[in-house]
Amino acid sequence: MQAQKERIRQGFQRAKPTYAQNAKVQQTMQQKLLAILRKHCKTRNLGNILELGCGNGLLARNLALSFEFESYLAVDLVDFSNDFIKIQKDIPHKIDFLQADFEDLAQISNKNPNLQYDLILSNASMQWVNQRGFLPQLSVLLRPNGILAFSTFGAENYQELRASCGIGLEYLEPKDYAEILQSDFKILESFEARIPLHFSNTLALFRHLRDTGVNSLQQGFRLNKKFLTDYATRFHNVLTYHPIYLLAQKRSLESKPKDSPSNS
Ligand SMILES: C[S@@+](CC[C@H](N)C(=O)[O-])C[C@H]1O[C@@H](n2cnc3c(N)ncnc32)[C@H](O)[C@@H]1O
Repeated sequence: MQAQKERIRQGFQRAKPTYAQNAKVQQTMQQKLLAILRKHCKTRNLGNILELGCGNGLLARNLALSFEFESYLAVDLVDFSNDFIKIQKDIPHKIDFLQADFEDLAQISNKNPNLQYDLILSNASMQWVNQRGFLPQLSVLLRPNGILAFSTFGAENYQELRASCGIGLEYLEPKDYAEILQSDFKILESFEARIPLHFSNTLALFRHLRDTGVNSLQQGFRLNKKFLTDYATRFHNVLTYHPIYLLAQKRSLESKPKDSPSNS
């Protein structure tokens, strides 16, 4: 595994005991994503589902309590197989867990050869990969008219961290997604939100980052007293989350834009 991916894996592996308690924003995003699915998917049976960056399986569990499906493959870099064994006891439909890099689409295809998914789902995970290169490839795994629904984070995510210590991922904006997806997908829903979290002190804010698995962001950065004081003065111990939600439908061959390269 590449060094960068291994660092991401270790960050989320270490946060396994603390993630559920601390990742309240990600849980809010799961609820929103489920609401978007309810709005756009009028059938109760969602068919064959692939979830990318599934974490502890909470989204899979909640989805299984309000929808039916034919199959569900949940993928994560970290081994969450024990969490899925526990979840399986609460729900009637079988969920398969695969520990893999979700950018490795060959490995995902091998798990269910020839299957074209009805729904590809991802909550708060897409920002960890090169989305410009990766997202268009997902069309290969979806059937025509299949749905890609995900939440991720936009350019103002953790803006205080970027301003104070220059750390952060390459976040995209809604207009970037429109451009990246346009040749193979029609965007049916897209919106964003801002969620400022207030901490009692700056150390608690950095503990929150560690406990939600994003320690790998801080590679090469060391906290010191002056930094903590400056952050408290400048940002009042606020950390802003900037979720983006998107639901897109894969175009059928007939509905592709005329100048689309993949149509020629
Ligand atoms: C912020 S957590 C979100 C987890 C879960 N979806 C949720 O809503 O709580 C991001 C997850 O993506 C996973 N992840 C990041 N990059 C990945 C990759 N390239 N392949 C598979 N999983 C990845 C991490 O291991 C982590 O579990």
